[in-house]
Amino acid sequence: MKKILVYLLWALPALGIAQELNAPNGAFNLQFSLADGTPTYELSLNGTTIIKPSTLGFELKDTEPLLTGFSIVDTKTSSFDASWNPVWGENKTIRNHYNELLVQLKQDKTQRLLNIRFRLFNDGLGFRYEFPEQDKLTYFVIKEEATQFAMAGDHKAFWIAGDYDTQEYDYTTSKLSEIEGLMQQAVTPNASQTPIGKAAVQTALMLKSDDGVYINVHEAALVDYACMHLELDSKNLIFKSHLTPDARGDKGHMQAPRTTPWRTVIASKNAGDILLSNITLNLNEPTAIEDTSWIKPVKYIGVWWEMITGKSSWAYTDIPSVQLGVTDYSKLKPNGKHAANTKNVKKYIDFAAKHGFGQVLIEGWNEGWEDWFGKSKDYVFDFLTPYPDFDVEGLKTYAKEKGVKLMMHHETSGSVRNYERHMDKAYQFMVDNNYNAVKSGYVGDILPRGEHHYGQWMINHYLYAVKKAATYGIMVNAHEAVRPTGLSRTYPNLIGNESARGTEYESFGGNNPDHTTILPFTRLIGGPMDYTPGIFEPDVSQYNPNNNSWVNTTIARQLALYVTMYSPLQMAADLPETYEKHLDAFQFIKDVALDWDQSLVLEAEPGDFVTYARKEKGSNNWFIGRTNDEIPRISSIKFNFLDKGKDYIATVYRDDNDAHYKKNPKAYKIEKYRVNSSSKINIPCAAGGGYAISVMEVTQPNALKGLKRL
Ligand code: NOJ
Ligand code: CA
Repeated sequence: MKKILVYLLWALPALGIAQELNAPNGAFNLQFSLADGTPTYELSLNGTTIIKPSTLGFELKDTEPLLTGFSIVDTKTSSFDASWNPVWGENKTIRNHYNELLVQLKQDKTQRLLNIRFRLFNDGLGFRYEFPEQDKLTYFVIKEEATQFAMAGDHKAFWIAGDYDTQEYDYTTSKLSEIEGLMQQAVTPNASQTPIGKAAVQTALMLKSDDGVYINVHEAALVDYACMHLELDSKNLIFKSHLTPDARGDKGHMQAPRTTPWRTVIASKNAGDILLSNITLNLNEPTAIEDTSWIKPVKYIGVWWEMITGKSSWAYTDIPSVQLGVTDYSKLKPNGKHAANTKNVKKYIDFAAKHGFGQVLIEGWNEGWEDWFGKSKDYVFDFLTPYPDFDVEGLKTYAKEKGVKLMMHHETSGSVRNYERHMDKAYQFMVDNNYNAVKSGYVGDILPRGEHHYGQWMINHYLYAVKKAATYGIMVNAHEAVRPTGLSRTYPNLIGNESARGTEYESFGGNNPDHTTILPFTRLIGGPMDYTPGIFEPDVSQYNPNNNSWVNTTIARQLALYVTMYSPLQMAADLPETYEKHLDAFQFIKDVALDWDQSLVLEAEPGDFVTYARKEKGSNNWFIGRTNDEIPRISSIKFNFLDKGKDYIATVYRDDNDAHYKKNPKAYKIEKYRVNSSSKINIPCAAGGGYAISVMEVTQPNALKGLKRL
């Protein structure tokens, strides 16, 4: 009898009976089974279905697919619980706590092996494929990954169009079933490069079910593999993975042993839990950099917004074409609009030094900007040769004397082999000239022609650049690169990414007023964003009469973004002369911390509002930020996170009562209060508004005199 039982237990998985895995606290339940030999999983949260039975596998090029005909060779379960400290982050300590199920499969007919590893955390699921070393499968080419995410209802979705080359879209909010019909208008001309069409969307995808469950689908640890989109079968509401192809249409060149990135599903009844989840980071490897002492969060200003608005230019001249190494710039007539000239850069360095900014970004310093974009030029920049009016040596000394570092700008213009050829020299040039961080950029079509920003080839390039930069002690802030997947845990010198529609689009026609209430639930799930907030002059025509764009937020909300858009790299993007006019509000940007002991979400609803409170690393000061969509609302918060028995001064930077993002964006009010852990406050938020609060511990009782207690 006992023998039969043992045999049965052993045989159950092979018969396709489900394997089960529960989260450490029991909230999530995962079932794995072989339905007619096809690997299938489903996920529930406290009995509510999050993912309906969904199949797993691959279509391969020139060989049989890895989709069906499997049997289970073995399964293993284990548990893990350990905490770790990120070099920088939203929390000082992160707990990595999960139960794991490893399913080892064999495709009977081909004898090929495929493992699937599931990790169930208290806030969601991560799983990946593993191709073990084996005789029957070594080199292979992926035609498509066939991972399904079958939705349990026609959820509300916050989505951007699937695209192989850009994420710089406005978000659309709609039912899943409406995505296909809305796709054409979601593909905005100024963002789209290679839209996939159909009902394909990008991750991190944010969803909300009719019964109020928030669900997020993304990926973690995207290494040597193509970026995943999700293609919806609109009728059955099943998403299927859609990888970015290479120039030949292939989706992945593989050699076993190899693992894929993790696919993640975070879910909760509470929207704030999605924002606070650490699943993406936890599924990445610990830091690969031994000495991280040189990696430091930094606040910066830059010679930038004046070009983005069209007030000034990156280019030195107005001639339409240059040939690098041939064109003699000293013989060309300057256009009089070149911003990266020594005098102007000194003005920014002075401003940074005066107001305590660590860094100054300078764009347009190097030769080549006359015809940098859209010409498919291979040798477009050399990252070494300054324009004649930019004094590298002089500025190096000037910045050093003022205690300011410089942020290098490497616009590759998509000519990536050219960048790789120059990379060592370019990084050494930075080290020699007081630059310890680089903002890189990948505008335009990729060279080699036919490759995409999100294909395996480019994924490998981005990481190559980050690893190489680390050997020079350089931090990387990559724009137009693939959206992050938590890799900054392993390579914390990857200090920033854009990879979404940033503030620059406020000058290219504007962002939707609810944009910053969605980004934390989508783009920021993978890692920080260099959103470049801090615009105090919403009327862009004040800088460039030919540009009638309008920045769709109030000033108070611009301050909030330093808290709600987490990043260890924060820019104050507007011009020094504009900040000089609003030094009272600018004080918040000067005060706000960049690195945190603890982060809390006080209020959150994607598309409507987000309120964070964060405790500064190593101090007792807190900073609170609230971003609000186009509907005026009252925010009600409690200060019960403060240490009991301590007094603090709360400085509230809020929308004035008549503020409005279109009609009256500059109307803000600054109020000071005395607060402790039993204080609470109601703050009106304007349409497109919000607020920021600094909460500073009081050490001098005198400082509290005359302040109203909340
Ligand atoms: C696009 C980037 O997002 C922007 O910040 C930069 O100034 C331009 N490219 C030029 O490199
Ligand atoms: Ca960009």
